Amino acid sequence: MNQDELKRAAAIAALDYVIDGEIVGVGTGSTANHFIDGLASIKDRICGAVASSEASAQRLAGHGVRLFDLNDVERMPVYVDGADEINAGLAMIKGGGGALTREKIVAAVADRFVCICDASKRVARLGGFPLPVEVIPMARAHVARRLAALGGEPRLRQNFVTDNGNLILDVHGLEITDPAGLESAIDHIAGVVSNGLFARHGADVLLLAAADGVERLLRP
Ligand code: A5P
Repeated sequence: MNQDELKRAAAIAALDYVIDGEIVGVGTGSTANHFIDGLASIKDRICGAVASSEASAQRLAGHGVRLFDLNDVERMPVYVDGADEINAGLAMIKGGGGALTREKIVAAVADRFVCICDASKRVARLGGFPLPVEVIPMARAHVARRLAALGGEPRLRQNFVTDNGNLILDVHGLEITDPAGLESAIDHIAGVVSNGLFARHGADVLLLAAADGVERLLRP
């Protein structure tokens, strides 16, 4: 199985977590796209979906899945999304696709975060993947200096604007020994909208696809 087939296997396994008659939160990225395509086959069983990006909203709409504005949704049982890295405690780095802020918001409303990944995403320590940080444009240089002071090397993502009209700094070379602490420290820099560490609220379930099947891991 190639990497894309593994992503698809994890995504299809996540359909078992979708509750009939309910709204499902939907992530962003190539793995989430497989989930969206799978969701199309059971769309008559669900109430609808909340998307974490314009791209996912478009794909869901293309399949005829009813879309809800998050402001009209009080709760949803599950949010399904991929990750760029995930550790044994199910803390993640997300935002490779730049949708981290909306992903964090939609996930916050859901009772449970189901993460879908191919086995390459599992790491012993987070930080090999550059950490995405969404910043207000006028704060770009200030935030970059503060991120450098934290030991990282921030690089502006070229030719990219988020769905919220902001910029992304990808921070290379961070040694992330305390993911939740670093998540909070970066959030406190003036001008940061959010960062791609999902550690204070990580995944509840990880569906990790490898050649020999999809392993289900729960947050310890
Ligand atoms: C999108 O902003 C990200 O958080 C994605 O969930 C993450 O980058 C995983 O993407 P893939 O499923 O494409 O690997």
